[in-house]
Formats: sequence, C-alpha cells, structure tokens
Amino acid sequence: MSDKIILGIESSCDETAIAILKNNDELLANVVSTQIAIHQKYGGVMPEIASRLHVENIGVVLREALEQAHITMEEVSAIAVTVGPGLIGALHVGLQCAKTLALMYHKPLIPVHHLSGHIYANEYVSPLKFPCLAIVVSGGNTELVIMDKHLSFNIIGETKDDAIGEAFDKVARVAGLPYPGGVSIDRIFKEGQGKHSYILPRPLDDGTYNYSYSGIKTAVINLAHKLEQNGEKLNVPDLCVSFEETAIDLLLDKALPAVKEYNVKQVVLAGGVSANSYLRSQIVKRLEGSGVEVVIPPLWCTTDNAAMIAKVGSYLYEEKVFAPLNVSASPCWKLEDFRKF
Ligand code: KG4
Repeated sequence: MSDKIILGIESSCDETAIAILKNNDELLANVVSTQIAIHQKYGGVMPEIASRLHVENIGVVLREALEQAHITMEEVSAIAVTVGPGLIGALHVGLQCAKTLALMYHKPLIPVHHLSGHIYANEYVSPLKFPCLAIVVSGGNTELVIMDKHLSFNIIGETKDDAIGEAFDKVARVAGLPYPGGVSIDRIFKEGQGKHSYILPRPLDDGTYNYSYSGIKTAVINLAHKLEQNGEKLNVPDLCVSFEETAIDLLLDKALPAVKEYNVKQVVLAGGVSANSYLRSQIVKRLEGSGVEVVIPPLWCTTDNAAMIAKVGSYLYEEKVFAPLNVSASPCWKLEDFRKF
C-alpha cells in the first residue's frame, strides 16, 4: 500500500503554517511563521496586515516544508486546509494556495475546521479515547465538546459573549500589558508576586454548560476607572492573579461536571488558552485519582500550526471528505457543521 501523505495549510489568523504528515503519525515537516511581533505594535491582530503577510510568507513556508520533509508535491496524497473559522482575508490566502496546489497536482482538497484541528493536536501526545471531553479555549471561542467517536463533535456549552482568550486580551489591555494578553497575564501570574486581592464576579452560574466572560472583563474595566478616580494605582500582579484564577476556576467549575454526566474517559485541552499555567496545573489536580485521562497539549500545539490541520485531514481523507475547488472560506463556520461546506 502506498503511503498516505497529507499536506496541511493553516492561515486563519496571524500564523502562516504548513505541515506534512505521513501515515497519520510521522510528522515530516511543521513550519510556522508567526506575525505576532508585527501585530504587537497595534495591541492586537490587524486583519488587513495579517492577510498581506500571509501572501508574502506562504510561498516560502511551503518551500521550506517540502524541503524539511524531503518530498515532492507529486508524492502528496491530499491537501488539507483551514477553511474557517477565522479572519476572512487571512483564510483566503491559505485556501487559494491549497486550491492552486490541488488543481496543479490533481490532489483532493480536504476542508478542515480550525477548532477540530486544535482538538486533534492532542493526538500528537496521546490517541483520542471516547467518550472524550474537549475544552476548547481560544481567542475567539470557548466551547465544551463531547466526542463519542472520531470526527463527531457534540457542543454541550459555549460562551454567550466574549471568549475566554478575548477576556484575557482585553483585561491585559486595561492593565497596560502587551498583546497577546493571555501570555502577558500568565507570565506575571507565574512570577508569583501577586495576590488574589480583587474579588471579581462569576457570571452565568446557572447550572448550564454555557459561559459568559464579558461581565468579568467589565468588572476589571470598572475597577480600573474607580481606582483612577480615587487617585489609586491598579496593582497589576494582583489583578493578574485575581483575573487568571477567577476565569480559569469558572471554566473548570462549569466544565468538569460533564465528566460524570457523559461518562468521559479522557479530557483534552485545546486552543491558545490551553497554554495557561494555572489551567494546566488545576485540571490535573482536580481530576487526580478520578481514573480519567487528562491530555495536555505541548506548548507548540497550543498556538496555531498546520500539524493539527494535517492530523484532522488524515482522518477526513479516510472518509473521503473532499471539497470542490470552488469551496469558499467560512469565517463563522460552526464546529457541528464541519461536514457542510
Ligand atoms: O487559539 P488561538 O491562537 O486563538 C484563536 O485561534 O482564536 O489563541 C490565542 C489566544 C489569545 O487570546 C491569547 O491571549 C491566549 O490565546 N493565550 C493565553 C495564553 N497563551 C495564549 N491565555 C491565557 N494564558 C496563556 N498562557
């Protein structure tokens, strides 16, 4: 039997990435070009700049990936690409690259949902075991997903307003910390100088699996204004500890009852916020002795990359989930609709 070689492409936000995966588990290349340093000047991702940088970078990233993997395009079995969700202009660049390669080399085009990629990144640590609870926490999403088998995503809860990563980024901005805010807040948290001295609200404690993070963010903005009016200074290390512990405790308090309810065998973390140090330690602590396997993605898997897109692509390839060449980028694609494109 010939080798299954999937070339994955990711460009949904501010990373241009291409990876090559052989037979589902041999990662031959994983090239990521990040734009973070450029967007930092603006305090967040500038969509138009992101698109332009993807255009500049994608050819170089492709060449490097093929060189690292020592393969030619002719040997590739299929092209897997992030079709959504993400920034429309940014998605277009990866998708156009994928379509061009598919057309030129007569390869199937596999449309991949970005969040499914973050979940499948965990397979680089341990195979998914079902039923599995995926806690998906990123700059744009906060979702609890139950998987009963491969490529089956049942969303049991989600945020009704801000995503948890978005709240980290906005709180960091109030505290005058650089983008990405989650990284800055967690860095100060880990330095250990702060105390949990600010009491922040825990919104939507309503017994559902849904979240709300805009209330905590607004409470921090109000706190900063009030202190300013009183001529007092915001204690940044204390704010970092108070916010990080409140936001993550809320995440886990709401998510973990699902372990029992859905008879979960494995819990996985997915998305940028899964790099958070308090989240990583708390989830292990809280599930210790429960018999449930906890999978924590390595840090390289928490940021956007194409290895995770190639991994999902490898499963979709087996089911022959291929898209026509006129498939469009889907900036608001829902995870449960990942077969509709
Ligand atoms: O998954 P990702 O790249 O975003 C989307 O695709 O939406 O994650 C980016 C988010 C940002 O909001 C960033 O602040 C947050 O992940 N983040 C963190 C940490 N590292 C990144 N949040 C909390 N703690 C961290 N260590």
